[in-house]
Amino acid sequence: MATNGYNIHALELGPMENFVYLIHDRSTDTAAIVDPAWDVEAMLSLAKEKGIRITDILLTHSHHDHVNGIEHVLEQTDAQVHLLKAEARFWGKSLVKPALHHGGDSIVVGDTEIQVLHTPGHTPGSACFHLGNDLIAGDTLFVFGCGRCDLNGGDPEEMFNTLKRIRSEMPGDTVLHPGHNYSPDHPTATMDSQCKGNPFLHFDDPDDFIEYRMRVHDRIRHTPYQAVSKEQALKSIGH
Ligand SMILES: [Fe+2]
Repeated sequence: MATNGYNIHALELGPMENFVYLIHDRSTDTAAIVDPAWDVEAMLSLAKEKGIRITDILLTHSHHDHVNGIEHVLEQTDAQVHLLKAEARFWGKSLVKPALHHGGDSIVVGDTEIQVLHTPGHTPGSACFHLGNDLIAGDTLFVFGCGRCDLNGGDPEEMFNTLKRIRSEMPGDTVLHPGHNYSPDHPTATMDSQCKGNPFLHFDDPDDFIEYRMRVHDRIRHTPYQAVSKEQALKSIGH
């Protein structure tokens, strides 16, 4: 997909339908790899084939299925690792000179500027990366789904606030690139389509959201995810 001066390449890798992304700055042929995990060699080969040098590693969060390829990338490149300070603290892993960010920071790859959003809820230091009209969302927002909030460090109230912010701040034509391919008919989707059909964006009351996320959703819904109307979502929590 080509927009502005960059391309986003996606590979679905590993047993958990993870998406690993490459943000390729075309003018310098440098790139950032987002959430390097699983058969990361496939992405390194793709970069090599295209003559792209990987200069940065961006982490949306620290879960194993998003980070288990970091060492492999570092063996083959001199890439700088980036993550939020809040996530580094939560993770507790010693990384070699990571760049620790706060929400609102920018990361520059060649001539491409990437905005860092702090989006807690799935983990305390989860991040989304916004560039042009693309949003790389990790496990914060999936196509017709959102990250679970019942794991260590998860917080459904924070997720509610995070999604509310994303919904209000991202233009409708923003393209969502999720951390997992849970809706294979729609590996990406616009925010417009998510506002209409993502059940997690339908709740205005935090208590309703928490009830749906923590107690109802996993009982009634399984991947592959399809669109859910606001009426259906509210009905499923007894409204
Ligand atoms: Fe995760």
